[in-house]
Amino acid sequence: MKKYLYLPLLAVLAIALSGCVADDVEVREEYYYPEELALIQQTLDLPEKPLDYDVQLPTHLSRSGLFARNINRDMATLGRVLFYDQELSSTGEVSCASCHKQELAFSDEKASSNGINGQQTDRNSLALGSVASFAAYYGVDLFGTFGVPFMWDNRFGTAREQAKAAFTSEKEMGMTIESLIQTIEDREFYAPLFRRAYGSTAVTEERIMSAVAEFVDGLGTFDSKFDQAAEASTDGINMNVPFADFTALENRGKEIYLESCAGCHSSVFGRPVMNEANNGLSMNYEDEGIGGFTQNATDMYMFKIPTLRNIALSAPYMHDGRFESLEEVVDFYSDGVADHPKLHELLRDGSGQPLRLNLSSEDKMALVDFLETLTDVQYLQEMRYSDPFK
Ligand code: HEC
Ligand code: HEC
Repeated sequence: MKKYLYLPLLAVLAIALSGCVADDVEVREEYYYPEELALIQQTLDLPEKPLDYDVQLPTHLSRSGLFARNINRDMATLGRVLFYDQELSSTGEVSCASCHKQELAFSDEKASSNGINGQQTDRNSLALGSVASFAAYYGVDLFGTFGVPFMWDNRFGTAREQAKAAFTSEKEMGMTIESLIQTIEDREFYAPLFRRAYGSTAVTEERIMSAVAEFVDGLGTFDSKFDQAAEASTDGINMNVPFADFTALENRGKEIYLESCAGCHSSVFGRPVMNEANNGLSMNYEDEGIGGFTQNATDMYMFKIPTLRNIALSAPYMHDGRFESLEEVVDFYSDGVADHPKLHELLRDGSGQPLRLNLSSEDKMALVDFLETLTDVQYLQEMRYSDPFK
């Protein structure tokens, strides 16, 4: 009964006071208590007020049917700290960021990454930060909403499942859920971060993984030269017009890309055309790819079609890191696609043979130049994604 009496009173108060105190109330809402801030700032370089994690999609992406949801900044801030915390591995030496480095668009420079005790991962680290690859950025088409699964073999549907697997992998971080929770509880600066994110300081598996996922899902990168040039030159839909801000070579590279690559890697770098394919790396694959996970014959030797955003930074290339440079990748697509039984038809010619683009050396350069326009330099320096440890 009391509840009903209070409500209208509060509403009247809110209306009466709006304007003069609203700002003040809102600001105080976002701050840590002074003693919390002091505790946080002993170890972490975090601002008094959480940074904003929302992103504004360029119109060429939003017009293609992509949306960016709002990111909870308190959860993302907690997730950022968890992402960079080396204590959250059994040796105290490995964090998510060991294999996902911001300066390399959250990939690393090795064919296999180094986990705990010098162990190597089975596959090449994937660059993080894209559009439709992450649940925060989803699209709607005739069939409803779509999202893209994670890993080279698409084995995880969400960033939460993926984070749990990384923390508890014997090769990567070697933790158990119990040791993870214990370590976090022992590190006092986490309490205020959990309080802000979840309203209480309790550390649970669900809370940990959701916070990491909020950070990972929120890694937005769409401020490359390509995005800027597309924004300036197109109606957001027709990518075929030459971009005024591109060099002649970059525009030629874009033409080749739209003709020969976009069918799989998508034309606007947002909406994925399909999630997986075999691109004929060789006749024999050591790694069964998606089939190794699902055990379905149709999935054998199929791999995730990765985003090409920031691709110039994530060498070496392919699931096994077999190519050292974009030049090698382009040589491969031009002349080296193998006649694997699973090779996708987009990489076959009219008579069913592996496609030979036979690009001239100038066209190869043009394609590499175009791929280099996909680098978002701003992303590599953004404070909100950076290492918060002092
Ligand atoms: C020891 C190196 C290593 C560590 C530590 C590591 N990762 Fe990864 N990460 C990888 C590799 C290698 C892959 C690709 C593996 C595969 O597909 O089998 C990957 C893939 C991913 C993907 C999938 C990206 C995509 O587009 O499909 C995400 C997301 C990710 N990692 C996030 C994390 C998070 C979050 C953490 C920390 C909780 C973490 N990683 C810790 C090496 C690492
Ligand atoms: C039939 C679909 C298909 C087409 C067409 C295609 N790709 Fe790919 N691409 C893939 C798949 C699948 C992979 C991952 C293969 C693997 O690692 O086993 C890949 C991987 C890549 C990678 C490595 C990404 C990384 O993170 O390591 C680059 C670069 C690339 N492709 C560029 C291109 C270019 C340039 C073209 C056009 C000349 C092209 N692709 C055409 C399917 C395709």
